[in-house]
Amino acid sequence: SIDSVTAHRGEILHFLSDPQYQSSTETKENSWQYFKDGLLVIDSNGQVQSCGEAEALLKALPADAQITKHPNCLITPGFIDTHIHFPQCEIIASYGEQLLEWLETYTFPAESNFSDPEYAAEIARFFLDQLLSNGTTTALVFGTVHPQSVDAFFTEAQQRNLRMICGKVMMDRHAPDYLLDTPETSYSESKQLIEKWHNKDRLRYAVTPRFAPTSTPEQLEAAGRLLKEFPDVHFQTHLSENKKECEWVHDLFPERKNYLDVYDHYDLLGKRSVFAHGIHLDDGEWQRLAETDSSISYCPRSNLFIGSGLFNLHKAQQHKVKVGLGTDVAGGDSFSILQTINEAYKIQQLQDQSLSAFQSLYMATLGGAKTLDLDDNIGNFEQGKEADFVVMDYQATPLLKFKIEQCTTFEERLFSLLMLGDDRCVKETYIMGKKYYG
Ligand code: GUN
Ligand code: ZN
Repeated sequence: SIDSVTAHRGEILHFLSDPQYQSSTETKENSWQYFKDGLLVIDSNGQVQSCGEAEALLKALPADAQITKHPNCLITPGFIDTHIHFPQCEIIASYGEQLLEWLETYTFPAESNFSDPEYAAEIARFFLDQLLSNGTTTALVFGTVHPQSVDAFFTEAQQRNLRMICGKVMMDRHAPDYLLDTPETSYSESKQLIEKWHNKDRLRYAVTPRFAPTSTPEQLEAAGRLLKEFPDVHFQTHLSENKKECEWVHDLFPERKNYLDVYDHYDLLGKRSVFAHGIHLDDGEWQRLAETDSSISYCPRSNLFIGSGLFNLHKAQQHKVKVGLGTDVAGGDSFSILQTINEAYKIQQLQDQSLSAFQSLYMATLGGAKTLDLDDNIGNFEQGKEADFVVMDYQATPLLKFKIEQCTTFEERLFSLLMLGDDRCVKETYIMGKKYYG
């Protein structure tokens, strides 16, 4: 915790609800708060005390409050990455393969290194440094099959006081022997990790079968048992990313209606379940995601990099399915949520659906928090929320500075920042009110 009240003065934007559910431009503005000269006030516990116009709030500040000014910057809640693999750092930007070959060629060999706890700790440190220097303050993270990978990750995240979710991969078939567990060991190792880490400080656990092809029915059943025994843990897996993967799932589970139904059959859907990708879904699957309040993690940079396809955000919105953004490092080739938003914009353009600056930043903050069922804790600057935030510099690059000078409205400036920005724009990242990076 910090010693006294602190305050940050500058341009501030945060969301109160999803802009897509407001019909007109005027009512859309009810879904966010924008202060040209704003003040974010943080109490001694690192929680938001107030957020509003600087002029009004300054009067109520205690005399010893420390005020930091952020000229030419935008302050927003920290970014939330709803799908990422910490053990895949070393294979980022690997050449030439689509999903199934990419897993065999690059991913599985890289993940084998995580049987070594010291190596896992070293990569966890590198990974968390990358997240924070990109303005990402919370992530839903895959470990490897080795429980020690998750121990290493949580140890490092706890030291940094981060709100992070992670889980040990459950995988008992269709991968090299050195990466396989069994239904029994995956159950008992996951259970031990839940008891050790779930709800310790700001950490939470996610039951994590890699995807349907690498789990036997017995293992998926064990995953369902864990969710029943620990009803407030999270769940993450991959869903309908690549056409060959979808055909494979159809062959492996011929008795199931569709890909999602494989997970549904084992009771793995729900409000804390996040399915990465969801590119090739039919209407029945969309409907079932909505009925169960399950979420999709949209990973545009990965979908382009490994050539999986174009995600239909419009379908998700029609069905009112919650969507967060994910980098999917290292299927994705960047840790930057700004660069992820840039690719999401282009994917929507290709489908004749433009993606607004507000909608995309919503998905990266409060929308992401809702997919993780953490919106009581993080995602915006409402009173009592944990003060994880990012300060972005409109003048970080010559091109951005030049472009910003051409803009006349805030929405234009925001859009330019989101399109042209990357980690160079992330000037400072704060965790529970304390500067962690910058
Ligand atoms: N499907 C199964 N495993 C993986 C993985 O590690 N990355 C991605 N992008 N998709 C997967
Ligand atoms: Zn992934």
